[in-house]
Amino acid sequence: MHVKSSAKHKNKPMRGSPGSALRAEGEPRKKRRFSTPGKQLSNGSPSSPIQMQRANLPIATGKNALIEEIRRNDVSILIGETGSGKTTQVPQYLLESGLAGHGMIAVTQPRKVAATSLAARVATEQNVSVGTLVGYSVRFDEASSDETRIKYVTDGMLVRELLGDPLLSRYSVVIVDEAHERTLRTDLLITNLKDIQRKRNAPSDVKGKGSAAKLNPLKIVIMSATLDADKFSKFFDDAKIVYVKGRQHPVTIYHTAVSQPDYVDAAMRTFFQIHTDQPPGDVLIFLPGQEDIEGLERSIQLYADRLPKDVQSILVCPMYAALPPGQQAKIFTPAPAGFRKCILATNIAETSITIPGTKYVIDTGKCKEKRYVARDTGTGFDTLLTRDITKSSAMQRAGRAGREGPGYCFRLYPEEAFDAMAESAEPEIRRCALTSSMLQLRCLGQDIEELDFMDKPDREAIGAALKTLYLLGALDSKRCLTKLGRDMAAFPLEPNLARAVVASREFGCTLEVIGIVSVLSASSKLFFDSTDEREAAAEARRKFRHRSGDHMTILNVVRAYQEIAAAEKKSGRKEWCRKQFLNDRCLAEAQDIRDQLREVCTRMQIDWKTSCGEDEQPVLKCLVRGLVQHAAFLQPDGSYKQLMGPSIVKIHPSSSLCDKKVPVIIYDELVYTTHIYARGVSTVPRSYIAEVPVLNVKGT
Ligand code: CDP
Ligand code: MG
Repeated sequence: MHVKSSAKHKNKPMRGSPGSALRAEGEPRKKRRFSTPGKQLSNGSPSSPIQMQRANLPIATGKNALIEEIRRNDVSILIGETGSGKTTQVPQYLLESGLAGHGMIAVTQPRKVAATSLAARVATEQNVSVGTLVGYSVRFDEASSDETRIKYVTDGMLVRELLGDPLLSRYSVVIVDEAHERTLRTDLLITNLKDIQRKRNAPSDVKGKGSAAKLNPLKIVIMSATLDADKFSKFFDDAKIVYVKGRQHPVTIYHTAVSQPDYVDAAMRTFFQIHTDQPPGDVLIFLPGQEDIEGLERSIQLYADRLPKDVQSILVCPMYAALPPGQQAKIFTPAPAGFRKCILATNIAETSITIPGTKYVIDTGKCKEKRYVARDTGTGFDTLLTRDITKSSAMQRAGRAGREGPGYCFRLYPEEAFDAMAESAEPEIRRCALTSSMLQLRCLGQDIEELDFMDKPDREAIGAALKTLYLLGALDSKRCLTKLGRDMAAFPLEPNLARAVVASREFGCTLEVIGIVSVLSASSKLFFDSTDEREAAAEARRKFRHRSGDHMTILNVVRAYQEIAAAEKKSGRKEWCRKQFLNDRCLAEAQDIRDQLREVCTRMQIDWKTSCGEDEQPVLKCLVRGLVQHAAFLQPDGSYKQLMGPSIVKIHPSSSLCDKKVPVIIYDELVYTTHIYARGVSTVPRSYIAEVPVLNVKGT
């Protein structure tokens, strides 16, 4: 590969307006000690390594000025380089300075792994265990107690909390972190926070009339490493923007002479070029997603094993959102002596996490983006597409190399490609399905079309969400929320899966439906699509097959796994999964999800033990209720035509029904490759579809 140096592109340190940069000069040197509940171990001592590390973070210099700014302003917008200490320190500063009063501090993250790992880090800094003073709450997992004052949450979880506590009264401060990602949930939250603050911070004579009388005021802090700060400031009525000066060393940027269609291969060759020619220092490679990461991990490992003895060894560490928190520890700990660490990460390492030791960055220039594909019939779906990153991302990625000293960034694309990139990504609210959010907003009595958003959602997407909720029975023909819709919203599930669970009450098969839905909601897939051992895998899985297709097949796996789980320790379970070519991580996660869904059922007085035994018909009826928009009918040529959409689809090769011709199918999702494929497929009698209540009404 040709690597071309371009000194022009020296990365500059993060800039802010000099006038508002936080300064340490003239600040009182008062030290306030904060005592936390729990045992005082060595971590708590000011001279312990972890406390020294805290004191040395760039943000620590401006600590008092920062606290003062937040004290003075209802809304503050805080910008600072990744690694400067925003996410870990600001909540602790606010707690220690008493700014949070008696309320809790929520810190939102777009990703689950960031929330859980940050809680662990901050708990260590506070010298407590996670779930006490410092906790977290993410979908299907929570560690918090009455003691909890700092809670790391996903933005989605806080939106969900609104359903039970519309004024977020338990929180005195909400920190919206990584706001630049503009996830759908972050945008929904910001819209609601503005309104909540108006209610809670209203003068007492106004407040006295409403139920907000007893509420303490709410502080909002918006944080990011890269942000269109002015846009946020304007939205919050010219809120104060505060900049933290980061430490950033120069990063030399190289571009390739020509574009690299096989970016995984190009990344591998660039890595070995660095490894053999360049001085020690860890390498961070940005890739779009998990599959590419796993593929590259295998290839690097393969070549690493063949390196001559006198060359440094390589430690490969993957990092992506679905990776369990336990496996992340490897990334934060330094490589053993004689090893070069090679981290393969998605854009999670762009701003959410800091990886110490990185000197070289390889940027493939690609990321995965969720995008809604609208259909002209008013239905649509989200897809994950690999696409070019934005300038803002490219600059963040390069910046990762200059945290601890001068660094190098190898961009696997030409300089002209950088110049052609969009400045920053389009907010999710403009490009994702709105179904689940619309249901939540309806439960809050809000109308998505009338809300004050930073960017308004697309009319077409609104129309599609309304149609879906109507077909699921969550909205009636006057667009009003139904009892069914409210029941669905109680489940932390996509509306179509929530619909299937609610239906299971009627059809007496909650045990089975929850078993299937748990697997479908896990962050990784149950079956590996490995090409190397396809035959062996198919053979091993054959015994789980159910004639109706993939959903009942999943249930058979779940049932078998439960027997093993009851009898075997963790290692035995893993071994069993390996032999069956099943993903043990998916099954373990699904068990946690299942337990949570059972709790929700209990709260809603749905008996989760209700079982239909070996009869698959009730289960399929429930699935049809949820997947009614995902039904397709066999055509004479063997393909399937969507019931509610114009597309012709094929059954995905990974499906147990792939070589069968059945009259009617329902499916979990569509994937686009050479064809439109339906994945997660079951066959159902045509009459089940006709029985769906909304389709059964004359005139619809
Ligand atoms: O939010 P920001 O990017 O400004 O920084 P941060 O997440 O608060 O991280 C500050 C420092 O804490 C990092 O430079 C890491 O050295 C350390 N840290 C860590 O060691 N382990 C974590 N899980 C998170 C942070
Ligand atoms: Mg951060």
